[in-house]
Amino acid sequence: MTKTNSLAFYCIIVLGLTLTKIQLSDESELIIKRPNANLSRVPKDLPLQTTTLDLSQNNISELRTSDILSLSKLRALIMSYNRLRYLNISVFKFNTELEYLDLSHNELRVISCHPTANLKHLDLSFNAFDALPICKEFGNLSQLQFLGLSGSQVQNSRVQLIGHLNISKVLLVLGDAYGEKEDPKCLQHISTETLHIVFPSKREFRFLLDMSVSTTISLELSNIKCVLEERDCAYFLRALLKLRKNRKLSHLILNNVETVWNSFINILQWVWHSPAKYVSISNVRLQGQLASSRFTYSDTSLKALSIRQVVADVFSFPQRYIYSIFSNMNIQNLTVSGTHMVHMLCPSQVSPFLYLDFTDNLLTDMVFKDCRNLTGLKSLSLQKNQLKNLGNVILMSAEMTSLQKLDISRNSLRYSDGGNPCSWTQSLLVLNLSSNMLTGSVFGCLPPKVRVLDLHNNRILSIPKDVTHLQALQELNVASNSLTDLPGCGAFSSLSVLAIDHNSVSHPSEDFFQSCRNIRSLTAGNNPFRCTCELREFAKSIGQASREVVEGWPDAYKCDYPESTKGTPLQDFHMSPLSCDTILLTVTIGATMLLLAATGAFLCLYFDVPWYVRMLCQWTRTRHRARNIPLEELQRNLQFHAFVSYSGHDSAWVKNELLPNLEKDDIRVCLHERNFVPGKSIVENIIHSIEKSYKSIFVLSPHFIQSEWCHYELYFAHHNLFHEGSDNLILVLLEPIPQYSIPTNYHKLKNLMAQRTYLEWPTEKNKRGLFWANLRASINVKLVNLAEATSYTQQ
Ligand SMILES: *[C@@H]1O[C@H](CO)[C@@H](O)[C@H](O)[C@H]1NC(C)=O
Ligand SMILES: *[C@@H]1O[C@H](CO)[C@@H](O)[C@H](O)[C@H]1NC(C)=O
Repeated sequence: MTKTNSLAFYCIIVLGLTLTKIQLSDESELIIKRPNANLSRVPKDLPLQTTTLDLSQNNISELRTSDILSLSKLRALIMSYNRLRYLNISVFKFNTELEYLDLSHNELRVISCHPTANLKHLDLSFNAFDALPICKEFGNLSQLQFLGLSGSQVQNSRVQLIGHLNISKVLLVLGDAYGEKEDPKCLQHISTETLHIVFPSKREFRFLLDMSVSTTISLELSNIKCVLEERDCAYFLRALLKLRKNRKLSHLILNNVETVWNSFINILQWVWHSPAKYVSISNVRLQGQLASSRFTYSDTSLKALSIRQVVADVFSFPQRYIYSIFSNMNIQNLTVSGTHMVHMLCPSQVSPFLYLDFTDNLLTDMVFKDCRNLTGLKSLSLQKNQLKNLGNVILMSAEMTSLQKLDISRNSLRYSDGGNPCSWTQSLLVLNLSSNMLTGSVFGCLPPKVRVLDLHNNRILSIPKDVTHLQALQELNVASNSLTDLPGCGAFSSLSVLAIDHNSVSHPSEDFFQSCRNIRSLTAGNNPFRCTCELREFAKSIGQASREVVEGWPDAYKCDYPESTKGTPLQDFHMSPLSCDTILLTVTIGATMLLLAATGAFLCLYFDVPWYVRMLCQWTRTRHRARNIPLEELQRNLQFHAFVSYSGHDSAWVKNELLPNLEKDDIRVCLHERNFVPGKSIVENIIHSIEKSYKSIFVLSPHFIQSEWCHYELYFAHHNLFHEGSDNLILVLLEPIPQYSIPTNYHKLKNLMAQRTYLEWPTEKNKRGLFWANLRASINVKLVNLAEATSYTQQ
């Protein structure tokens, strides 16, 4: 077992359910998180290997050595939002690895100091200290990167204790009792790149604080309240003025500002002449009047200004003035978002704006109408406003000849090509039209060079066939619409990323993968797939595509129909090729039938079935006839003693040897050559001859078995109705017949031959007497007076 495994095992066994959450990131980390668990003391059941312990948001009021003594691996302890009142830093003396300690948002009033050399992050902010909790031991925290402090008094002497440390970020939370009496120069000795000062939230800004820390690059000030009109935010502006000498200052962040319009514009005006390049003001509450005065834009370092979340009480002055201050700003980036701004003016001369972000306002599609002074603008966001008519936005874009990125998502845009020219700016590369009310008609007018097009969450039912050809389009997002099929890539020959999840695609066309050869990423899950034959090819292709290409596979791809497959992952959906391909099915059935027919035919021929059938018919007819005639009468009808069946090749022997020998004893012989009735069928003649003869003699020879007729004769003789069994048959073997040469369908003959019940024609002359005697005996007739059959004998 690896160390990780055994650790995990240990955790599960020992801690089991008692812990809210256990995370094991890598081998040396064991993170125990139990925030918000209503704990009033540090739990006793912590694993000894714990490296990170999060006990934030509980009710713990005391931290003792014994609580954490055994956690010798502890590197991070988070106990923010608890009720600690007192801290003796010596409780950590056995946690020599401890480097991250967050005790913010407690009720700490006092700490006792103890050397702790390793700390990199120490947060004591948002506590109830009077004086800044800085021990002289902090001076040894040479690795300290973050220090969070809070206090109502900021004594220079305390700050000096850490003045020699280079701390990346210092957070200073001033308590509610922080007053004007403080030494304004108290922060001078801090050395930090990022300084965040949090002022008391409920008090007017009336502090004589010099915040100009020479090492600071980024300064964040929270809770600035100066609403008393007559003072004009004088204290705060005076504090800002002091920052002018901070040449390093680059980022200024003001957060939670509550003031009056005039002061706000004054702050902006100060910003213009400050060293800061990036200024961000957020969560602003404004009230009062605005006295219009000139805003001077000259002499500024400012590059980007962002103003977010502004609440203004009812405007009682023309808003045009405010809009014109913003629109004429000579900076690259401007963000004004989360305000209730209803309009924005066109800059009065060609503007240096590159990036404008007016997300989340109340702008209408009259914004920047016919505005020719935004020719340098590269990116514009009008996300989440009140735009309604896409046609107006298209016209607006036409004048922005450098615009590459336009975000007009989350509006109420519709498009109808009511005769307006499709005048999108040619420069546009990224267009975000998501979360609007657009239909498929939008595909009739799109920026010709667009590469990324986001149309998700609209009302598109289908992508029309006659779409604008977008050769440069690489990414198309049409998720969350009502599309029923995947778009082919015919009109979008460069498409490499397609999102079409959450639509109504039930059986995507098979040729999608053929037409979209450049696809690198396809997101098509959460569609109501119909798991029938039509889906087979698609399911196969998508299953074969590599995992990197198909996003969300296999979990998001499920059958929706038929009912029996609902919820089945497409991955497990299989249909046999046979049940799906009608041609294949027809061919298969046809082939099977043919095979059966062929087999049948072969078997018929092999076993001579037709012949047997024919014979069976004859036999049945004869039998039928015979049943109606009494036996005596039949016997009376016998005209011959013997019918001789032979092959034409053996006729010489029959005429020269057999006939003379039999007829000299008055045995009447029926020969087919002599006695067959012309006009009757051969079969009939055979049957008649056999019926009219007492016995049937077969002259067997290799010729005989070659002759089909002879075979018939044998068959009939054997089934002769008037003579039981086969004793009416006399077989004469004229020449030896090898067993193998008898055709397999001559079963009768084979059997008879096997029983050796035949007379052999001797080659030696002297034996022939006996042969004739035997033959005569076999015929064994008392030479009954056969009925005169003139018709036969006369021939
Ligand atoms: C302006 O904003 C864009 C987009 O956020 C950013 O990439 C760019 O760096 C910003 N420029 C400046 C000067 O802040
Ligand atoms: C379009 O805007 C939405 C928010 O409205 C955002 O989630 C999405 O990522 C944006 N799309 C692109 C391609 O930037």
